[in-house]
Amino acid sequence: MKKQRTFVFKCSACGHEEPKWLGRCPECGDWNTLIETAVSRLPGPGPGTKGNRPPQSIPLSAVDPQEGGRIGSGIPELDRVLGGGIMKRSAILVGGEPGIGKSTLLLQAAAAADTRGRILYISGEESMGQVRMRADRLGLFANGGGDPPVKRNSPPGNTSRIELCCTGKLEDIETILEAVKPVIVMVDSAQTLHTAEVGVVPGTINQMKYGAYELISWVKEHDAALFLVAHVTKEGIISGPKTLEHMVDTVLYFEQNDGDCRFLRAAKNRFGSVDELGIFTMGERGLSVVEDPSLLFLINREGELPPGVATAAVLEGSRTLLVEIQALTVPAKGSMSRVFSDRIDSARVSRVAATLEKHLKLRLSDQDLYINVAGGIRIAEVGVELALGCALYSARTGLSLPGRVAIAGELSLAGEVRPVRRLGGRIKTSRSLGFETFLGPAADAQDRPNEKPPPVSETGKIIAVGDLKSAIGALFS
Ligand code: TYD
Ligand code: MG
Repeated sequence: MKKQRTFVFKCSACGHEEPKWLGRCPECGDWNTLIETAVSRLPGPGPGTKGNRPPQSIPLSAVDPQEGGRIGSGIPELDRVLGGGIMKRSAILVGGEPGIGKSTLLLQAAAAADTRGRILYISGEESMGQVRMRADRLGLFANGGGDPPVKRNSPPGNTSRIELCCTGKLEDIETILEAVKPVIVMVDSAQTLHTAEVGVVPGTINQMKYGAYELISWVKEHDAALFLVAHVTKEGIISGPKTLEHMVDTVLYFEQNDGDCRFLRAAKNRFGSVDELGIFTMGERGLSVVEDPSLLFLINREGELPPGVATAAVLEGSRTLLVEIQALTVPAKGSMSRVFSDRIDSARVSRVAATLEKHLKLRLSDQDLYINVAGGIRIAEVGVELALGCALYSARTGLSLPGRVAIAGELSLAGEVRPVRRLGGRIKTSRSLGFETFLGPAADAQDRPNEKPPPVSETGKIIAVGDLKSAIGALFS
């Protein structure tokens, strides 16, 4: 079919097109960004319409559900965070500090993904040789020796469907996309995308946004999926990747704790929850999945616990994790007490401390409070509050908690212990990890009719408490 050449005014910031010049882009609001651009279009109606028929709607029931199908990435932890696999026609941003393992994760997913289609890996940062060396190190080629680093169900020899190109030039990428017609496109990284259409300076935010917009449009039209890597530095220079967040469907951030654990979280997910956490370790052969993370955040101790330490049974997405909460209180150095806590929100720590002070007459407002979570995981779940209260009480009084007690519960400002989600699951996981006693709210069948009451067991003890005072009484009597 012959292509027609027409001119439109295209926004260099967001890619929006207007038939005539405007001083300000109506889409993104930037000034002086509309540039006259030649476009080649097939004659006839625009995309999405067939033949000469006018655009029309179809009944929802007639839509093929497979149209929005998912592709398994072959990496269970990545699938979990994505909400069950890679959604076709979606764009996924993978952010994280340099060196955290973004390129490694994508290359492993490229080899393990459950699809027969081609996968295009575009590297604007590394040479072909460097990418190949990483693939060899990861043992992705059967003849390269070694076991695959991640379990995969897809047929062997699937590295042959990975196509590699090393460029950031958008025009080149578009040509290759048309030739390869991949089902998954991986761009490493968004910061290397550039095109002459957005001016001569590469690496600007506009270059990145424009490139990302074009690639997102391509995958949506071609039933493919896009991974876009974006570097985020420690100093928080995230203005670049941040501007991409609203353009993509899913935003994943990769973080590291003090050890070699890497956590993958969704900050935005149009096709799943943002609660799920993927836990990996980086080893000689790339990233591997942590099989049983429940024990990762506990410290194995002999004998009595030191004061200030309590174990919380918290939810991370669909999983229960047992984490050690550590508290330390020292007389405040200034006239004001301060909270030092990067793993649990400081406002939550202050609120729990105030509740303790009010309802147990325990003076904390003249103390500096230090809170840590073993294993360096960030806890945002409300069920951590009771354990946090117990750890603070123990730290301030110097009394240790009894061993092998797992704690869960939300604290109200009135000092009550409120019910938490999935109490039964928390009790079960605590038991399975050897915590004989579970301290928490009473199962509230009225509030949560869908929740089964916790299983009664002869071996373990469940202490149901209604308020903070009775919880402290039960632990420190
Ligand atoms: P990389 O994936 O290049 O990080 P990013 O793309 O986020 O910048 O790799 C991160 C680090 O991991 C790098 O310092 C080397 C290390 N690494 C391993 O320890 N084992 C491996 O098998 C690989 C491939 C990398
Ligand atoms: Mg990289």
